[in-house]
Amino acid sequence: MRIVLLGAPGSGKGTQSQRLMHREHIPQVSTGDLLRAAVACGSKLGLKAKAAMEAGRLVEDALVLGMIRERLRQPDARRGFILDGFPRNLPQAQSLDRLLKKLRQPLDAVVQLEVNSAELVRRLSGRRTCADCGRVFNLLTSPPRGSQATCPKTGQPHRLVQRPDDNETTVAERLRVYDEKTRPLIDFYRARGLLRVIDAEGQVDTVTRRLARALGMPALARAIQRKAAASRRAPAKKSASARRARAAGGKKKAKAQARKTRASTRARRSRR
Ligand code: AP5
Repeated sequence: MRIVLLGAPGSGKGTQSQRLMHREHIPQVSTGDLLRAAVACGSKLGLKAKAAMEAGRLVEDALVLGMIRERLRQPDARRGFILDGFPRNLPQAQSLDRLLKKLRQPLDAVVQLEVNSAELVRRLSGRRTCADCGRVFNLLTSPPRGSQATCPKTGQPHRLVQRPDDNETTVAERLRVYDEKTRPLIDFYRARGLLRVIDAEGQVDTVTRRLARALGMPALARAIQRKAAASRRAPAKKSASARRARAAGGKKKAKAQARKTRASTRARRSRR
């Protein structure tokens, strides 16, 4: 399956791509991740991209297109791919069209993730990433806890860091750039009959279910639904055992009360 996930910063492209990747065994190709890796290792490309990324602007098309051409030619992308954060403007979308024609790998679908802007800002302000394993959390919606509290790389609690472009000023600019440059791609792909739009607000599982349905993946949608139903039943089980505990507690109280009553009756009789 060859998919593009379109959506504003914070709409959940990365979160949903990761889930699809594990389920479908096809790579997530995130231009944001590739660029951040280039910046981190101080490559020539990274040095050129850094200023634009820090300011919330788009990195030059030529740099991004070079990266994508190289990545989509790698063997693991022959089975399919999920493009996350690419294309981001009309020239990139047209270049992708040409490249995929050459590779004889046309897109199957483009899914637009719709989220209102207040929720986007809330998600971005709470996002934190583990500096060691790269896992993405959210202090407000999905903090590390339970079995996910420990970093699989270090065996220690996750070292959470905030992305440098998740500050208030840069987020505002990224949202503006999205509206100006990326939103026009909705019509571009609608005209090609590839566009599907989903409501990407609500629980992560709910969004994955909508995404699976939009992509015609009923098995994935059913698997998520079963998981959700199981977790809805779990609190019911808990409350049944809580009821038993309460009942047991009640019996204990009743026995204690009966003991008290018997003792005071005995005391009254002995006084007489
Ligand atoms: P990039 O890394 O692509 O950032 P982005 O598009 O701004 O998207 P984000 O990664 O911020 O959000 P997301 O939609 O992936 O959301 P996520 O799943 O993480 O790009 C960064 C920069 O690189 C750009 O600004 C640009 O400079 C450059 N760049 C990249 N590609 C380029 C290109 N093609 N051309 C030119 N320049 C390019 O979720 C966000 C948070 O919300 C997380 O904490 C998550 O846990 C939480 N969350 C997710 N889903 C839910 C849910 N359903 N409910 C509650 N919380 C949720």
